[in-house]
Amino acid sequence: MNGKAFTAISLGGVFAVGLVCTARATPVVAPSPAKLWMEIQHLEKTRAVMPGSHPFQPGSRNVDVFTTDLSNAAARRAISGAGSILAVTRYPAGSLLIKNNYDAHRKLGGITAMLKLPGYDQANRNWVMAQYAPTGKVVAYGRVNSCDACHAMATKFDFVFAPPPQQLLPVAVWKAFFPKQVMNPAYIALLSKHPEAVVK
Ligand code: HEC
Repeated sequence: MNGKAFTAISLGGVFAVGLVCTARATPVVAPSPAKLWMEIQHLEKTRAVMPGSHPFQPGSRNVDVFTTDLSNAAARRAISGAGSILAVTRYPAGSLLIKNNYDAHRKLGGITAMLKLPGYDQANRNWVMAQYAPTGKVVAYGRVNSCDACHAMATKFDFVFAPPPQQLLPVAVWKAFFPKQVMNPAYIALLSKHPEAVVK
């Protein structure tokens, strides 16, 4: 084998190895926060209330005294197809769920959302987590540890909780995540009325 041929073969080998590595390591990229916000705005305008939710249902704290959950068509089909949120074990790619958080005066204070993006975050069921101010300003986005740590309590339902009073979290859990926030008295009342709904 002469020197030139050997060089060509080696380079070819390196190139092929390089391609394999790149293919394996390519991270799945979340849509931009602005793009997801546009999709959220569309669902807000069309009042796409999530099956199982109803407008201004009770929430847990002073920041979400009332909540309304929305869903896009993919998530809606999964929930309706299974019969309820507590019957869904896997959401399809592209599923989008939204929780509008209102204060005691029904003023919108924040929007949280989760988008199913296969390969994005396998340890946390591949949800892109997002939190926005009502203006669309991003508060948290992407792989957000605090969101995932709590939603992991609903791993059986693919990280999605059923709205109160179907599923409730103990006060101690809310306090552990949000020590400064005040609990909503209506939620405390639900906890004592529906002890069987408390997620363990
Ligand atoms: C301490 C627990 C906890 C934390 C932290 C938390 N959530 Fe939730 N989330 C819930 C519960 C419980 C519900 C069900 C509705 C309710 O109780 O208000 C919910 C509802 C939702 C919903 C509606 C779909 C569903 O699962 O019912 C979305 C979307 C959501 N949360 C996104 C987020 C995002 C994004 C973050 C982080 C910025 C976050 N959550 C942080 C507990 C939590």
